Amino acid sequence: MIVCSCAVISDRDIDVAVSEIMSTGPGILPTPGVVFRHLNKKMNCCTCAPVTVAAIYAAMDRLAQTTRVCPFVLAEARAKLIRIEERRQQRQLRINAEIAKRARRPQRAIA
Ligand code: FES
Repeated sequence: MIVCSCAVISDRDIDVAVSEIMSTGPGILPTPGVVFRHLNKKMNCCTCAPVTVAAIYAAMDRLAQTTRVCPFVLAEARAKLIRIEERRQQRQLRINAEIAKRARRPQRAIA
């Protein structure tokens, strides 16, 4: 299945990339940016980001089942990815609230 139509990345590509990234060492998180860079691709429109994150989680689940990578490393990486996603969502909520607040503010007449 194609996950990113801009860069033409499939879920199989993400599976392989996450496996290689997680096998290199415990310090690297398979964020969408890291996965795209690992595949020598660039994000363009970023509409695939939620699907990419889901594909990364699915790849990590498959790795955990096949035990090719230490389960503790996978669990730690998943926890960090969840924290990053929560911070991104909170940042987006703050941005949306600020945009709504500015939209409600009365416009001043230009003299
Ligand atoms: S669909 Fe992935 S960057 Fe556009």
